[in-house]
Amino acid sequence: MSIITLVGTQWGDEGKGKLVDLLAEDAQLVVRYQGGNNAGHTVVHKGQEFIFHLIPSGILHPGTLCILGNGVVIDPEALIEEMRTLTERGVALSNLRISERAHLIMPYHRLLDELQEQARGDKRIGTTSRGIGPVYVDKVGRCGIRMADLLERDSFEELLARNLEEKNLLFEKIYNTKQCDKDEILSDYLGYAEELKEYISDVSSIINKAYLEGDNILFEGAQGTLLDLDEGTYPYVTSSHPIAGGASIGTGVGPTKIDKVVGAVKAYTTRVGEGPFPIEELGPIGQRIREMGREYGATTGRPRRCGWFDAVAVRHAVQANGLASIAITKLDILGGLGKIKICTGYRYKGNLIRDFPSSIRIIQECQPVYEEMDGWDDDISQTETYDELPDATRRYLARIQELLGVRISIISVGSERGQTIILENPWASEKMSAER
Ligand code: GDP
Ligand code: IMO
Ligand code: MG
Repeated sequence: MSIITLVGTQWGDEGKGKLVDLLAEDAQLVVRYQGGNNAGHTVVHKGQEFIFHLIPSGILHPGTLCILGNGVVIDPEALIEEMRTLTERGVALSNLRISERAHLIMPYHRLLDELQEQARGDKRIGTTSRGIGPVYVDKVGRCGIRMADLLERDSFEELLARNLEEKNLLFEKIYNTKQCDKDEILSDYLGYAEELKEYISDVSSIINKAYLEGDNILFEGAQGTLLDLDEGTYPYVTSSHPIAGGASIGTGVGPTKIDKVVGAVKAYTTRVGEGPFPIEELGPIGQRIREMGREYGATTGRPRRCGWFDAVAVRHAVQANGLASIAITKLDILGGLGKIKICTGYRYKGNLIRDFPSSIRIIQECQPVYEEMDGWDDDISQTETYDELPDATRRYLARIQELLGVRISIISVGSERGQTIILENPWASEKMSAER
């Protein structure tokens, strides 16, 4: 019995979807704790690719209860569309539950997201335009609308009217654009309520009961540590807490109940959207990594910015999340690239920086300090054990482990569930392979 939180340690897209699907094999519950349909989590099973935006990545396991926790923000239209697509592909959704405390993304949040981005000009964040920032602003501003409200027609109508009074003034006076129509939104959302009501419940109680009954529970993070509101490259971040601390808040489970935090670490670095990215490779290497790794956004299709492994950024994530171990993903992509680099520090005005800076200016202006290692040409995507990996690959892993000071528990060498080398099963306490 344990609770594990799986977090992204970089700028998102570390392969969390694949890892959640894998770890869900031994879990009775998988719970998303933050973010919304800005996420795109890919699971490839028996050659079929699924991209989950809201639905937890454990849904392909029929015996696993999949929950959207209170910390998630839900665009009901997008959720219903995702549910429809999955049902058409034969995935059962009877094991899906939605928190009655989760906040609703409204059409005015999506509109505001776009208008604010336009207004930011060259300072834009490069959001996914799903309304994520504005819905979390309303949550904190105590005027948000929750799933529970959606099920009570009168409360919903009153909250909608109150919100629109303010939002429509903004649209009219500040952004000179058209207003949102209350009746249209009301009718759409009451329709969504009908479709979703059977899934909405007090999920915190379900999770806490499951814990007491001894179930294995996996908390699924979206985005990554460097996109966290406090620990990330603010203001070029998302508006929630992807870090491990967010899991307790976003599930309603006390922090003392969470046993372990496992960090998803891509073997190199990517970022999608704007904002400083010290190790960005704008030349042929970045291009090569993008093509080999198929680094295009799972949500927006935008090309991801690519660079070598950044140990400064991931060390920051080790600290912010209290990682017990890490799962290295996409190691196969580095094969055939020639020499491989690892960023071990940043240089700023002649000084060597080893801790991830808070100042956005320093992150923008610093230069990465690299060490170079031998690469490997072998295709490692079918490798089943650590010992079969080429020497150079093992040296690369050992160096990462040393630089981060955290054990590697899982090595992913391909997108399929089976393309994984498990060194230490995070659900078990003992090591499966001590030989490293
Ligand atoms: P997430 O947002 O963290 O779940 O990651 P994404 O799904 O956005 O992006 C990860 C991409 O890499 C997806 O296309 C996965 O199918 C793929 N992927 C995950 N792990 C591996 C791996 O070890 N090797 C390769 N080649 N692809 C992987
Ligand atoms: P997963 O869960 C990568 C980025 C956006 C933008 C910033 C803010 O698949 O790892 P938002 O729409 O959240 O207000 O955008 O955050 N972003 C992601 N980047 N992976 C994600 O999710 C992301 N979700 C948001 O590109 O820079
Ligand atoms: Mg993604």
